[in-house]
Amino acid sequence: MARLSVVGDTRDSARDRLAAHIVADEDRGLLRFLTCGSVDDGKSTLIGRLLYDSQLVFEDQLKNVQKESQRPNSSLGTEIDLSLLVDGLQAEREQGITIDVAYRYFSTPRRKFIVADTPGHVQYTRNMATGASNCDFGVLLIDARQGVLTQTRRHACILSLLGITKVALAVNKMDLIDFDQDRFQAIVNDFTAFAAPLGFDSIEAIPVSALKGDNVTTPSAHMHWYHGPTLLGHLETVEAGHNRESSPFRFPVQWVNRPHLDFRGVSGTVAGGSIKTGDEVVIHPTGKRVHIARIVTADGDLEYAQEGDAVTLTFAEEVDASRGDVLTTPDAEPSVADQLAAKIIWFDEESMLPGRTYTIRCGTQTSTATVSSLKYKLNVDNLDHVAGKTLEMNEVGLCNLSMTKPLVFDPYGDSTETGSFILVDRFTNATVAAGMIEFGLRRATNVKWQELSVDKASRAGLKEQKPCVLWFTGLSGSGKSTIANALERRLHAFGRHTYMLDGDNIRHGLNKDLGFTDADRVENIRRVAETARLFVDAGLIVMVSFISPFRSERRMARELVGEDEFIEVYVDTPLEVCEARDPKGLYRKARAGLIKNFTGIDSAYERPESPELDLDTTEVSPDELADRILAELRRRHVV
Ligand code: ADX
Repeated sequence: MARLSVVGDTRDSARDRLAAHIVADEDRGLLRFLTCGSVDDGKSTLIGRLLYDSQLVFEDQLKNVQKESQRPNSSLGTEIDLSLLVDGLQAEREQGITIDVAYRYFSTPRRKFIVADTPGHVQYTRNMATGASNCDFGVLLIDARQGVLTQTRRHACILSLLGITKVALAVNKMDLIDFDQDRFQAIVNDFTAFAAPLGFDSIEAIPVSALKGDNVTTPSAHMHWYHGPTLLGHLETVEAGHNRESSPFRFPVQWVNRPHLDFRGVSGTVAGGSIKTGDEVVIHPTGKRVHIARIVTADGDLEYAQEGDAVTLTFAEEVDASRGDVLTTPDAEPSVADQLAAKIIWFDEESMLPGRTYTIRCGTQTSTATVSSLKYKLNVDNLDHVAGKTLEMNEVGLCNLSMTKPLVFDPYGDSTETGSFILVDRFTNATVAAGMIEFGLRRATNVKWQELSVDKASRAGLKEQKPCVLWFTGLSGSGKSTIANALERRLHAFGRHTYMLDGDNIRHGLNKDLGFTDADRVENIRRVAETARLFVDAGLIVMVSFISPFRSERRMARELVGEDEFIEVYVDTPLEVCEARDPKGLYRKARAGLIKNFTGIDSAYERPESPELDLDTTEVSPDELADRILAELRRRHVV
């Protein structure tokens, strides 16, 4: 399964300590499973019960729990509160480090288990997706009094999206509904009807009481109508996981290992299939072919390596590979494309905005990606496809993405390792989404770059100037256009070839279809940045005068042209001053509630952090400021 490294993994020492206690008589293979449910439906108690009954609880820990539970104010009196067991572990694990998913190990004579416990706070899809990406099986917990909730449906969707095909539906707190068979059956019917389109291979519904122990590890004495397995019994016998042998060979290069001149190898972990020495492999995206000379590990050379093995491969031929390349066998090649369609689960509190650029990480590959369009989002209550422009936190949608360089991948259905990716915010470094690739877009291969004989340098040469973008940003009424206009007059007088792109004017034509929501502003700036790039390519000095309130899009505009071709001019006029000037009477209207999403009032403006020029318009006249910009252009040899 894919490992979405959204947060750090569990501490190895704690893991080893727990793993050392695992003794399995009859090895049925490890089962990695995930428990998910809403707050208060008894998840901690259930996991505590599994740990307690399989006796993987340290003596001292148990004593603490007994003490805690026996406090007079404990709701359980002298009974042991099993949830304290889990919460205790969690507190220990969370000390000083961010662990959003806690992995616990336990075993029975029949099987070993790792359970991913994902806390159900607000950012739950982030944790859930992280946990689920490490699992083969999901336990969906339902409070019998509540029945199937939106949260349950959302969890089921995410499990299915992440490729988990087998689930157990643990209908908990049966003791609180008098072990009522009809109520249980109604919940099961409700869930199976909803989940039919999600395509689970099996759904095992089990009525339990985690608190009292009914049907968790031992059959209940209160539900004679139920003849199925206990939850533990099902976990011990269910077949889950996938066949390692049959998947095609995939090796994402993590780093190039060159300790001394006569050794050169590529290191990484086999993400799928297997390889042996002498085999021919293709290096993507270059398409070069080589033969495997050696498979090197810390414990000596191997003849053969398979999924999960961390190895260094050396080639028989002198061919270069670099980090982010993917090695495959020639008979099962992956897709290579710079545009693709993918399902996305959005994690971040800031909504997904088409047109904004994010960092995409797919295995060891990193690139810049833009969501070019949201095809639909999923209504998790009925699985309907809903039209929408953005994705909010915890929403799921199908998107088209475009990357600045081609990505090597497989559809998620073929490989969870090479078919999944994460999107990362370029400023905060937070993981904002997880993605499952559906397919590459054919248009990516059908549109080729047309080489032209007259280029930017020759166009600029004819005009005897250095083209560049002067990007004016600031609040409405700050003076951007006035200063840009004064500057253009001066440049024109010097015989320079210029052009002016002004927000209000462009919104009359090219961007007539856009309003002032965050999503529309992102698209507004994307288009004008692309236009500015074309004008620079035409050899012109181009002035852009747009509020451009978001640093992400200003950065995107900067990256579209050469490093010394972008001059960000922050027209730094305080809101009070803009509002007092109010040249178009818009602030007055906005304050009166007649204009929504007005920048500085009910829509954000992110100040530039390091603009090339920061202009104070409160003390200095527009003409003087234009002279100052001109001086800066001279210093840069633009004029
Ligand atoms: S941007 O935020 O998308 O960059 P842009 O520069 O194109 O904005 O347009 C800003 C101009 O549109 C303002 O100078 C103002 O005249 C006008 N305008 C109308 N409604 C708004 C609004 N809600 N917020 C900001 N400007 C608005």
